[in-house]
Amino acid sequence: MSRIEDLLQRMTLAEKAGQMTQVTLDTISYGKPYKVKNPLRLSPQKLKKVIEKKLVGSVLNVGTHAHTPARWRELIDEIQAAAARTRLGIPVLYGLDTIHGANYVMGSTLFPQQLGLAATGNTELVEQVFSLAARDTLRAGVPWLFAPVADLGRDPRWPRLWEAFGEDVQITKDMTVAATKGIEKVEGAASCLKHFLGYGYPQSGMDRTPAWIPERQLREYYLPPFVSGLAAGSPSVMVNSGEINGEPVHASKFLLTDLLRGELGFDGVVVTDWEDVIYLHTRHRVADSYRSAVKISIEAGIDMSMTAMDTDFADHIVDLVESGELPEARIDESVRRILRMKEKLGLFEIPNPGHDFPAAKPKKDLALATKAAEQSIVLLKNKRGALPLKKQQRILVVGPTANSKRSLHGGWTYTWQGEKTDELDPSEHPTFLAAFRSEYGKKNVRYVQGCNHQDELKMKKLKDKLKWADRVILCLGESSYTEFFGSLDDLYLSPGQEELSVQVAKAKKPTTLLLLQGRPRCISRLKGKYDSILTAFYPGHGGATALSGVLTGRVNPSGRLPLTYPRSPNSLIPYDHKSTENQELQGAKSAFDPEFEFGYGLSYTDFSYRKLKLKKDVVGQNDKLKVSVKVKNTGRRSGGHVVQLYTRTHFAAITPSVRRLRAFQRIELQAGEERTVTFSIDVADLAYIGLDQQPRLEDGKYSLMIGDLEKDFMIAG
Ligand code: BGC
Repeated sequence: MSRIEDLLQRMTLAEKAGQMTQVTLDTISYGKPYKVKNPLRLSPQKLKKVIEKKLVGSVLNVGTHAHTPARWRELIDEIQAAAARTRLGIPVLYGLDTIHGANYVMGSTLFPQQLGLAATGNTELVEQVFSLAARDTLRAGVPWLFAPVADLGRDPRWPRLWEAFGEDVQITKDMTVAATKGIEKVEGAASCLKHFLGYGYPQSGMDRTPAWIPERQLREYYLPPFVSGLAAGSPSVMVNSGEINGEPVHASKFLLTDLLRGELGFDGVVVTDWEDVIYLHTRHRVADSYRSAVKISIEAGIDMSMTAMDTDFADHIVDLVESGELPEARIDESVRRILRMKEKLGLFEIPNPGHDFPAAKPKKDLALATKAAEQSIVLLKNKRGALPLKKQQRILVVGPTANSKRSLHGGWTYTWQGEKTDELDPSEHPTFLAAFRSEYGKKNVRYVQGCNHQDELKMKKLKDKLKWADRVILCLGESSYTEFFGSLDDLYLSPGQEELSVQVAKAKKPTTLLLLQGRPRCISRLKGKYDSILTAFYPGHGGATALSGVLTGRVNPSGRLPLTYPRSPNSLIPYDHKSTENQELQGAKSAFDPEFEFGYGLSYTDFSYRKLKLKKDVVGQNDKLKVSVKVKNTGRRSGGHVVQLYTRTHFAAITPSVRRLRAFQRIELQAGEERTVTFSIDVADLAYIGLDQQPRLEDGKYSLMIGDLEKDFMIAG
């Protein structure tokens, strides 16, 4: 008999219920929940109560703020020692959000947030980034990473947009696969795909508010990244905290069992999101008590509850089974999955994987972070070659994001909200201002904050310094925030920043707008005053030098927008919109009228395309579409470029999108170099979801587009 089956046979109901319970570190630390004493220390009494008596099987989170790897290892040792004192000695499974690197481990390398990584179009790089993040997490003794985020970011207002890979299905699919592979190839590390399913499209744009997503749309857009992530080997999934079509996902047997287990055949661990079982009672109001919320969520299909503050969840399980309301066999299914995961991670043999882990190589790791940051920056406007900057100009840097590490890193940085980043981030990592000063020359760069993140104007000396300057770099955007703390009333930039921009514009100096932000804040009210615009989506530790490099010309920008940059808060339509949302078609105001198109991004060199070829221009439904195109760097410097391949379905029973991205490939070309880029796409992947919820692909006319080239082809039989 296998170890797991043997254990299951010997386990009491209480021991099983404990395995299904996950608490936050706060519950075993000195202090109160959400108010843990700093520096954090574990309380022996609480450890005894939670781990030894209540037999809790999993712990998460950080308590106060990031700890060093050595401190983490001590904490994990203490927790595993308590687990070893229980009757069966089953090790605890520790999980941490590892969002853009090991954000809760001091000294780890922090990378661009996922939205920035998506802009690189570089799946190989993303795989390396997540491997490194997994190693930094394991070194701390923590094997379970709550990453990657496989949600689509289709509403620019959503405060978690930067945590996702953008609005497109293909990019999100490919990047999710890369990130999952990156984690899974590090022995002893486990990924967790978040947040199954349909998070990220709440009607109000505010976090965790109701979403209405038809099943067809769920299947065509939101499901594929999870399907691909699971196929890439992710052993666990976290559930969406929200409700879809009136049903909280934590209560949805359809989504968690019929679809995830039945259709997708997933047999790994399904963990809830934070406190989401009790929320079925207190927030969603589909359960009249915590006890019935436990029953509903287990019947729906969860395995482990991130309770995160209580152990009542475990007590309710025991009670529900003893009273015959839940079959013990159902509990066994979940416990079996959890124990299998612990076994696969090697925790029964080595409960703390951190001790023998090789030391980090900070220099090498920073080089990877810098490369990622460089490739993630998107140059949006460059009138008459305003950038790169001429040498020896007098540059005035203005704005709240210029000297702010919160704006460089975003949320999930040392703390959940990233509010302590300026204090905790090691001094060797510069802010944008510091990096730019050291690259461009101190005496040529002056700075006025102009306004802070709270929108208080700080414009003293602005006028004088503007007079002095040859050029202004106006740094606007966002500070750090996460989840509901980042919900917005208005997608335009904050009033203080708009006012600052007006004051700067009065000086009529050539101005570069540098946006450090987590979502595309509308800039249409500012437009016209900048000859150059660039954006980065929280680019991380390499971000400051990368931005400085783009400005000076040391780095050639190559990022492409993984989202549609809206012109106004009333126009939030993604690029793969329907024909009736096309401005040109209607001749009057319709919906789609972006500031910058999806996939947009300039370079300091030029690329041209020619000879778009299809191996066969009549293909069968089970064929491959074999495409080649010649791409040439026609400018005078080398550069990276992401080649994107789109298709258009001309007619279909469900109104087709104007275009859909089907593949992308990043290449580097020397000045004058030309290369043939090839793609091979399964024709079947062009299917949409029909009214019967099944993939459907009509025979007929289609088009293929790369750059400004277009070619028709037919699907026949
Ligand atoms: C977030 C998850 C995260 C969890 C644990 C929740 O609030 O929605 O993404 O993994 O907390 O920190």
